Amino acid sequence: MGKLFQQSMDNLPGVLVMCSSVKFSFIALLMITMINPCICNQMDPHVYPNRGPFFEGWYLRIIDPGENLSLGFLFGLVLPIEQHSQQYQKHCHKLVNQLEIKRCLNEVLQMQKHAYDSNLKAHNSSFPLVYTSLLLSFNSTTKLDTPTGFFNPDDCSVTKDGRPVTKNPDDLTPPNFEAVISQNLSFAVTENKTMFSVTVGNHIFKGFTFAPVPWGPGGEGPESWLEKMPLPIHWFVYSLHSTVRYYEYVNLESGKIIRGGSKPGAPVIAHMEKNWGKSFPKAWVWAEGVDIAANVAFSFSSGVITELGMDIDAQLSGYRNGKKNISCSFNPVNSVHTLVQDGCSGTAVLTVKCLDCAVTFDLSAPPDTLSYCLATPQVVGFKKGCVESYVATARVTVHQRRGVSMVLTDSHTINQAALEFGEKYMCNGSCPPEVYVYW
Ligand SMILES: *[C@@H]1O[C@H](CO)[C@@H](O)[C@H](O)[C@H]1NC(C)=O
Ligand SMILES: *[C@@H]1O[C@H](CO)[C@@H](O)[C@H](O)[C@H]1NC(C)=O
Ligand SMILES: *[C@@H]1O[C@H](CO)[C@@H](O)[C@H](O)[C@H]1NC(C)=O
Ligand SMILES: *[C@@H]1O[C@H](CO)[C@@H](O)[C@H](O)[C@H]1NC(C)=O
Ligand SMILES: *[C@@H]1O[C@H](CO)[C@@H](O)[C@H](O)[C@H]1NC(C)=O
Ligand SMILES: *[C@@H]1O[C@H](CO)[C@@H](O)[C@H](O)[C@H]1NC(C)=O
Ligand SMILES: *[C@@H]1O[C@H](CO)[C@@H](O)[C@H](O)[C@H]1NC(C)=O
Repeated sequence: MGKLFQQSMDNLPGVLVMCSSVKFSFIALLMITMINPCICNQMDPHVYPNRGPFFEGWYLRIIDPGENLSLGFLFGLVLPIEQHSQQYQKHCHKLVNQLEIKRCLNEVLQMQKHAYDSNLKAHNSSFPLVYTSLLLSFNSTTKLDTPTGFFNPDDCSVTKDGRPVTKNPDDLTPPNFEAVISQNLSFAVTENKTMFSVTVGNHIFKGFTFAPVPWGPGGEGPESWLEKMPLPIHWFVYSLHSTVRYYEYVNLESGKIIRGGSKPGAPVIAHMEKNWGKSFPKAWVWAEGVDIAANVAFSFSSGVITELGMDIDAQLSGYRNGKKNISCSFNPVNSVHTLVQDGCSGTAVLTVKCLDCAVTFDLSAPPDTLSYCLATPQVVGFKKGCVESYVATARVTVHQRRGVSMVLTDSHTINQAALEFGEKYMCNGSCPPEVYVYW
C-alpha cells in the first residue's frame, strides 16, 4: 500500500476516483471510528455531554477594507475533564446567602484567573471555563490587541430556538441559536442574520450581518463528511464572507468610536466559524482571508492532532474564486499536504493537492503584529496557547487538472488575512512574554 501513497500527483491514472495519496494512519483511524457519514450545518450548538472533556467555541471576524481595519471576537465554554472547578462551584451553591454565593463564585473566578495567568501546570489548578477575547486591529503596523474576559459557567447560556440544547445540529436545519454571557456577550445566529454584542472591560464591539456565504452546499464545512467522526477537534466554517450591515466599536476609556458597514461599492464582510470537541491540538496553524473585490476567499487549519495515541499531521483547507468559478476543498481523505511554518518569522506555507486541484497558501505576517497569547480550550479549561495577526499577506497559487496535466489557473494576493500559530508552532513553542496584563 505504501507505494500507492508515494504516487506522484501529476501522473494519477484516470481510473482513480479519489486522490490515492492518503496518510495511512488517517485511513486506519477512519476505519476504526467510522459512523454514519453525513453533511451537516454545524453552526448550531452541540449537546453538552454528561462528562467532560468537551468544549465549544465560536469566532467572528469582520474586515473593513476601506478603513484598513479588522475586528473580531471569540468565545467558548469548556466542560473540564477534572471536576475540581465544578466541585468548587457546587460548594458555592451550598451556601444560602446570595451575597456569600456571589463572593464564593468570585473567589473561584479569581483563582481561575490566577491559574490562567501563571499558566499553572498543576493538576489541581482550576482554569477558566468560560472565556471571551476581542481581537482588534486598527492599522497594519501594530500588535493585534486582545482584551480578554473570564466568566463563570453560571453566567453563560446557550439556547436553540429559545430552549436548552437537547439535540445536535442536524443535516440541513438552518441555525437558530443564541449565546449569552452575563451582560457582556450576546451572539444570535439565524439563517439570514447574525447579531453580536461583546463588552470586555472598556471595549464594546457590536453589529449585525446578513446571510452566510457557506463553505459548500447543503451545510457542508471543511470537514465534509468527516464531521461525523469522533475526532478530538472539529472545525466548521459557517460563512466565508457575510455582508456586514452595521458595526460599531467603542472604547469607553479613550473615547474612540468607530462605526461602519457595507455601502455600495465598499463592502464590509464577516467570516464566521466554530470549533468543538475535546481540546485544541498540540500544534497548529490556522488562517483565513478574503478579497471581497475579487470575490476570493480561503481558509485552512493544519497541524498535529492526536487520536488513539497517534499523532497525525492533518489539514483542512479550501480556496474559492467566485469570478473564475474555482472551488477547491481539501481534507485528509482526498489530499496530501505539507506544512512549513515558522512562528518566529510569522510565516507558514501549506501546500495541498488532490486529484483536481493543487493549492499553495503562502502566508506571512510581520512578527510585531502577532498578539500576546489568546486562550485555547484544553481539557481542564482555557489556557493560553496561540498568537494571531490580522494583517497577514496570503499568496495563493492554484493549479487545476486539465486532462492529464495540472495547469496554473489562479494566483492571488490577499491582504488583511488572519494568521494564527498554536502551541508548539508558536515561536519557540511557547507564549511570548507579556509586557502587561489585561485585567
Ligand atoms: C490602507 O493601507 C494601504 C496600504 O497599507 C494604504 O495605501 C491606504 O492609504 C490605507 N487606507 C486608509 C484609509 O488608511
Ligand atoms: C493544589 O495543590 C497544591 C500543592 O499540592 C496546594 O498547595 C493547593 O492548595 C492546591 N490547590 C487547590 C485549589 O486545591
Ligand atoms: C496605528 O495604531 C496605533 C495605536 O492605535 C497608533 O499609535 C499608530 O499611530 C497607528 N499608525 C498608523 C500608521 O495609523
Ligand atoms: C431567509 O431568507 C429567505 C430568502 O429571502 C426566506 O425564504 C426565509 O424565509 C428567510 N428566513 C427567515 C427565518 O426569515
Ligand atoms: C462585563 O461588562 C461590564 C459592563 O457591562 C464591564 O464593566 C466588565 O468589565 C465586563 N466584564 C469583563 C470580564 O470584561
Ligand atoms: C463552475 O464549476 C462547476 C464545477 O466545478 C460547474 O459544474 C459549473 O457549471 C461551473 N459554472 C460556471 C458558470 O462555469
Ligand atoms: C526564541 O528563541 C531564540 C533562541 O533561544 C531567542 O533568541 C528568541 O528571542 C526567542 N524568541 C521569542 C519570541 O521568544
